[in-house]
Amino acid sequence: MTEANLLLEQQKDAVLTLQLNRPEAHNALNTQLLINLAQRLRQADADHHIKAVVITGNLKSFAAGADIKEMAQQNAITLHQDARVRAWSDISAFSKPMLAAVNGFCLGGGCELAMCADYIIAGNNAKFGQPEIKLGIIPGAGGTQRLVRYVGQARAMQMVLTGNIINADQAESYGLVTQICEPQQTLIEAQAQAAKIAAHAPLAVRMAKDCVKRANDLQLSQGLTFERRSYCLVSASDDRNEGINAFLEKRKPNYTGN
Ligand code: CAA
Repeated sequence: MTEANLLLEQQKDAVLTLQLNRPEAHNALNTQLLINLAQRLRQADADHHIKAVVITGNLKSFAAGADIKEMAQQNAITLHQDARVRAWSDISAFSKPMLAAVNGFCLGGGCELAMCADYIIAGNNAKFGQPEIKLGIIPGAGGTQRLVRYVGQARAMQMVLTGNIINADQAESYGLVTQICEPQQTLIEAQAQAAKIAAHAPLAVRMAKDCVKRANDLQLSQGLTFERRSYCLVSASDDRNEGINAFLEKRKPNYTGN
C-alpha cells in the first residue's frame, strides 16, 4: 500500500467522498493516513468547488481505531509531539459539512473520527465503541469529550469504562447515529444528503454549522448572541437576497456563494 493509496477519493459535483483504505488492518488510523486525511480536508476547505465531504471506510470497517502496532513504538513524549495532534485538530476544524458513512467496526480513534463529522449515518452492521480501556489506555482524540455530548454522560461513561461495543440500533437509540441503512446504502444515502446540503447557500451552510457546533461550548446567552450576529452577517450576503427572491418568484435559487 503506497502512502497515496491510504486515502481514496471521489468527487461528484460539489461532494467529495474520502475513503479510508487500509482494509488489511480494519482501516486502523496510522499516522500517515491521518496526515493524508487532514491535508485533504485542509485543501477541501479552501476549494470553493467542494461544498460537502463524506468520510467512509469499507463494508467491514469504518476504522478500528489508532494503529496499535504503531502505538506500541511510542512513548508519552513522542505521542505529545506527534503529527497526529495537529492532524486531529485540522480534521475537527473542517468548516464545511462533513458526514460520516459508517459500516462495520467504528472503534477507538475510528469512533472519534466519526464523531468529528457533523453527523453519522450507519449501516445496520455498524459497531461502535471506545475499547481503549482494554489496552490499558484511554481515548485520546475526543472520545471522552465528544461521546458525552452525543450520548450523555452515563452512556459515555459505560462505554468508556467497560470498553463495550454497541450495535447500530443501540447507537441510533443513544443518538450517536441519525439513521440506519442497509450497508450497501450507507454511503449512497450519506452522499445524497451531502448533495442536498451542498445545494444550499454555502455561506449560510457554514455559518449554520459553526453556530450549531458552538452550542456545546458556549453558555445559552453567549450562543444566542453568536447566532444572532451570524444571522445578521448571513443577511448581508447576495445569496440571502437570491434565496428570498427565488421563493417569491417561485423558482429555484441560483447561489453564487457571495
Ligand atoms: N491497529 C492495528 N492493527 C489492527 C487494528 C488496530 N486498531 N485493528 C485490527 N488490526 C489488524 C489486526 O492486527 C490484524 O492484522 P494481522 O492480520 O496482521 O494480525 C488485522 O487487522 C485483522 O484483525 P483481526 O484478525 O483482529 O480481525 P477480527 O475480525 O477478528 O477483529 C476487531 C476485528 C474487533 C476490529 C479487532 O481487530 C480489534 O479489536 N481491533 C482493535 C480495536 C481497538 O482496540 N481499537 C482501539 C485502538 S486504540 C485507539 O484508537 C486510541 C485513540 O483513540 C487515540
